[in-house]
Amino acid sequence: MTLPVDKSEGAAASADKPRVERVCFDGQDAWVKRPEGARSSIFTSLHRVLDRIFPKAMQSTNAVGGMEALHGEAARLRLFATKGLPVPTVLDETDAHLVLSDCGIQLRGHMRAISDVAERERLMEQALDVLVKIHQSGLAHGRPFLKDMTLSETGEISVLDLEEDPVQRMPLEDAQARDIYLFLLSCAEFKDDPKAGLKRLLDSYLADAPKDVAQRLIALCKSLRVWRWIMRGTGATMLADDVRGAYWAARVLEGVSKSDVAD
Ligand SMILES: Nc1ncnc2c1ncn2[C@@H]1O[C@H](COP(=O)(O)OP(=O)(O)O)[C@@H](O)[C@H]1O
Ligand SMILES: [Mg+2]
Repeated sequence: MTLPVDKSEGAAASADKPRVERVCFDGQDAWVKRPEGARSSIFTSLHRVLDRIFPKAMQSTNAVGGMEALHGEAARLRLFATKGLPVPTVLDETDAHLVLSDCGIQLRGHMRAISDVAERERLMEQALDVLVKIHQSGLAHGRPFLKDMTLSETGEISVLDLEEDPVQRMPLEDAQARDIYLFLLSCAEFKDDPKAGLKRLLDSYLADAPKDVAQRLIALCKSLRVWRWIMRGTGATMLADDVRGAYWAARVLEGVSKSDVAD
């Protein structure tokens, strides 16, 4: 059962409530998103230090937090919608929350729950098609993980969580290259043979991607190489799915050679 959202909820009242919650809005299923507490200056300073250490592809692209980040997300959701891209509709935007239309179940959760390997493969291809469409529309997502995508009852995949706008921090083509790296990283857990499986996804992306992205992937891959060696050398790839994914996605990008780059 879902509860109706309080339309007049003020910023003070929203502070004690869950950050993301399924609700009923004007009689339809919806999701309310409330702001994360504005990031402390310690967090922001830590972020600045980490930003010097990590390669760009591993950095978070937005340390703003608070309602400002959610207003930014609403603006990006509307922009994506005007380009015909599958995103939730912004049903309400106040100084305390956003209300978004329901887009179905979380894709990663669904893929973990099913054991049909062919169906998982099909879903990853379908999710990749959405990413390609975003890039062909001259946009980048910022963090296209399978956990930030949904599957509707009619089989449509939508993208969520547009709080981080990578283009604020880097050129569009670098942001698109980072997107495909992060997408591959999140798919790795569903590949028994990540080297071959992620390569197939990458090849299918490169066949349709904007032509400058492959060039940027070569640069991205160079920036990740030392990290990949550290991940392998320390055995960190055994620790967590994300680290294993980060390793294999970087490994597969190293296969992008000049010959893949369109003239
Ligand atoms: N519009 C929506 N439709 C369906 N599920 C949603 C929607 N918005 C959020 N969710 C669910 O809530 C989770 C968290 O939302 P998200 O926007 O990713 O916020 P966060 O910034 O906390 O990651 C998502 O992974 C998804 O499972
Ligand atoms: Mg999320």
